Amino acid sequence: MVIRFAKEDELERINVLRKQVNDLHVEGKPDVFKPGFNEELQNYVYYIFKDPEQKIVVADKDGEICGFAILHHIYKPENPFMKVRDFLDIDEFCVDEKHRREGIATALVEFIKNFAKEQGYHRLELNMWEFNQDALAFYEAAGFETFRRYMEMFI
Ligand SMILES: CC(C)(COP(=O)(O)OP(=O)(O)OC[C@H]1O[C@@H](n2cnc3c(N)ncnc32)[C@H](O)[C@@H]1OP(=O)(O)O)[C@@H](O)C(=O)NCCC(=O)NCCS
Repeated sequence: MVIRFAKEDELERINVLRKQVNDLHVEGKPDVFKPGFNEELQNYVYYIFKDPEQKIVVADKDGEICGFAILHHIYKPENPFMKVRDFLDIDEFCVDEKHRREGIATALVEFIKNFAKEQGYHRLELNMWEFNQDALAFYEAAGFETFRRYMEMFI
């Protein structure tokens, strides 16, 4: 398996995986996520691909793209409350449901860590929805720690 950056002709396949994540979110948080994977969401991957602040990483297993991650460089200048923040955010992350528990996500994170270090970043960040306990189990196994929480109450 090779982990590398995506090519433009792989974006349609990446959208198949993006739809898996979208469907999972719709099922787990239907009060927030819209069902279907509409054209705007599908086309967004082309915007990401061309954005110099974003990168798409893929796992290529014998010519099949079986996982991907989207990296987004975030720079937040200092303000009266906070110091400057400059980090890589993992915006989207998925391994094809047919290829889970084969170590593919672990390999993606290793690649991302090495790339981030090479680029001079000292911190990776991501956010996830609380219902997604499988993702939490993976992220914790990969070494991420919770540093902030969102809470809600239905009234
Ligand atoms: C979360 C996800 C990326 C993990 O990918 P993966 O390639 O299956 O993960 P790995 O095989 O590298 O797992 C490494 C370790 O993480 C933990 N882990 C991974 N998936 C797990 C799960 N479903 N339940 C419990 N632990 C899990 C285990 O410790 C695992 O090691 P093991 O298989 O030796 O027990 C994958 O399940 C996925 O794409 N889910 C749907 C999309 C999603 O939720 N994306 C993230 C939020 S946007």
